[in-house]
Amino acid sequence: MKDLLRTEHLSRADVDLLLDTAADFAQNPLRSQTALSNKSVAIYMTKPSTRTRLASETAVAHLGGTPIFIRGDELQLGRGETIADTAKIISGYCDALIVRTFAQSDIDELGAHSSIPVINGLSDDDHPTQLLADWVTIRENFGTDIKGRKFVYLGDGNNMTHAWLIMGAIMGAHVVAATPGGKWAPDAAVVTKAKEIAAKSGATIEVTNDPESAASGASVLYTDVWMSMGDPEAERAEKTKALTPFAITEKLMSLTEKDSVFMHCLPAHRGEEVAGSVIDGPKSVIWREAFHRRTTIQALLYHLTRGEIKGN
Ligand code: CP
Ligand code: NVA
Repeated sequence: MKDLLRTEHLSRADVDLLLDTAADFAQNPLRSQTALSNKSVAIYMTKPSTRTRLASETAVAHLGGTPIFIRGDELQLGRGETIADTAKIISGYCDALIVRTFAQSDIDELGAHSSIPVINGLSDDDHPTQLLADWVTIRENFGTDIKGRKFVYLGDGNNMTHAWLIMGAIMGAHVVAATPGGKWAPDAAVVTKAKEIAAKSGATIEVTNDPESAASGASVLYTDVWMSMGDPEAERAEKTKALTPFAITEKLMSLTEKDSVFMHCLPAHRGEEVAGSVIDGPKSVIWREAFHRRTTIQALLYHLTRGEIKGN
């Protein structure tokens, strides 16, 4: 597989390889410090980013390469140059491209017209690199035997929900998405895809509107912002009302397993999707999870540029 455009393109073997390498990079960040020497990686983002941008730039640096960050308004793409032409030009100078933008189809198109690996650094529909960091963190806490464990996302049915369900399906996990449903449900096509993958991997995919039954007996409670980048501001009040029962409070956390953890892709809004006492409390693993954004992007760049990701 040349690119990582969508979470669903990864096989279980790919994820295992990436998580093992990321765990190794966590111990030995400079293990492969010449892997990208004399090479450069373009990082093109039309949405803001703290973690993905910095994790990507530092990952490239740790591999001995040069990161080139490009803001959304800096390319001729914004003035009508086509995605296909842009992809060919970047392929002529760089050795990989990490891209964050709105439409998933734009990232797919960049992948189709580039000769270099293209990595999805978040779209409106997916966030594959985040899930790699999440699963290294899950393994650090629970090991590889996850039988009987439940991994629960609560909140808006957005790009994170999609990636959560698909990666859980790949990993053979019992994954749950608890959302208000309706406008804020995960896409039906993504749920169907997750179930298809689950039929082969042995995963269980559960989508519910009941936050308490979802949280009950969970090993992980995961959430994300209620207003994603690009969401219409006019919907804020209605959305906040619908999502309030899905906020991760101490009460919800008390329904989980004894060894449970709290996770969040960040940025967080304390007092909205999560109580300050939970995100800053003893069960929270958010800093380790954020740290692994670099180790996993480093692993991904390392293996993709060596042609070692097979896809499914
Ligand atoms: N979690 C995440 O993708 O964070 P950024 O938006 O800061 O990159
Ligand atoms: N759902 C959020 C994730 C941020 C990492 C967004 O798309 O803004």
